[in-house]
Amino acid sequence: MQLIDQYNRRLNYLRISITDRCNLNCIYCTPRQGFTKLRHKDILTYEEILRLSRIAIKLGVNKIRLTGGEPLVRRGIYEFIPRLVSLPGLEDVSLTTNGIYLKDNLKKLRSSGIKRLNVSLDTLKRKKYQYITGHDGLRQVLDGLSLAKELAFEPIKINVVVMKGINDDEVTDLARLSLVEPYHIRFIEYMPLGASNTVHFSYHVPSSRIKVEVSRPGNLIPVQKSMYDGPAERFRFKGAPGEIGFISPITHKFCHQCNRLRLTASGCLRPCLLSNQEVDIKGPMRAGASEEELSRIFLKTALNKPYAHHVSSLNPIPVTAQMSSIGG
Ligand code: 5AD
Repeated sequence: MQLIDQYNRRLNYLRISITDRCNLNCIYCTPRQGFTKLRHKDILTYEEILRLSRIAIKLGVNKIRLTGGEPLVRRGIYEFIPRLVSLPGLEDVSLTTNGIYLKDNLKKLRSSGIKRLNVSLDTLKRKKYQYITGHDGLRQVLDGLSLAKELAFEPIKINVVVMKGINDDEVTDLARLSLVEPYHIRFIEYMPLGASNTVHFSYHVPSSRIKVEVSRPGNLIPVQKSMYDGPAERFRFKGAPGEIGFISPITHKFCHQCNRLRLTASGCLRPCLLSNQEVDIKGPMRAGASEEELSRIFLKTALNKPYAHHVSSLNPIPVTAQMSSIGG
C-alpha cells in the first residue's frame, strides 16, 4: 500500500514539525500576541515521531524535512536526527531553521547526517531583521551560513518571504548574494496563515513582480530541475556560484504536483498547508492503535488530500492554523 491520493498524486514527502516553539517571533509566522504554546505532553515525543516515520516510509515516503517552530530549540534533537536518518528506506532528510543556533551546532548537524539546509532570512539589514523577527540576530545567521558553506552543506537554501513595504526593496541585493556565495536564494510569496497575524494579505507581492526586480543585476538563466526539487522555479546569473528560486504558492499554484504530507507538532496529519483539514493521529496512537490502524489513518488522509487550495488575492481567506505549528 502506498500513499496515493484520489488524483493519483504519490505522497513521498513528509514534513515534520518537531516543535511549535521558536526563539524568534516573525511577523509573518507567529502572531505578536495571543499565541498559546502547546503543552509539552501534547507534543509528539521523538519515539512517536520515529514510529510514525517508519510507518510513513513503509507507505512510500522517502524524503523527510524537519521544521518547527524552530527545530533546533528542541532538546535532544542532535540525538534524534541520526536515529531518523538511519531509518531504512529513507533517502533524504533535510532541515529548515532560522539559523540563530546554527553556528554552534553545525558540526553536530553534519555528523548527524543532515546535508541539506534551508535557512530563513528575509533581510540583510540588521534593524530590519530585528523588526521582522523580534531579535537582533542577523550576525548570528550570517555567521551560521558562512560556516555551513565551509562545512560543505549542499545545497544551502535561503528562504526569503517577500513582503510589500517591508523587504521588497531588498530583493535585488538578496539576489546578488548568489553572485558571490553558493547559496540558493528562494523568494517565497507571502501566504496568509494565522487568523490574528500582524501581516495581512496586502503585503503579498506576486513572484512576477519580484522576478522583474531580481533580473536587474543580469539575465536569469533557467536551471534544470533535479530529482529532489520542490516547487521552486530555478535560475542562475551567468557564472554565479549560487542560484535564485521563485516559489509562488499563490499566483502559480503547484498543487497539481504536490507530493507533500505534513505532521504537526501536536500530532495531526495535514494534507494541505493552505486548508484547515487536519487528522489527529496522536490520539489513536496513544490509545494503543496498531501499526495497521495507524497506516490506515495515513492512507485515508492521503486519499482525502484536497486537489488544490483556494487562497488567492481575490479570495484572501486566512487559514486559521499558525505557520509556527505547521512549519511551512
Ligand atoms: N508565507 C510564506 N512563507 C512563509 N514561511 C513562514 N511563514 C510564511 C508565510 N506566511 C516560510 C519561511 C520558512 C519556511 C518554512 O516557510 O520562509 O523558512
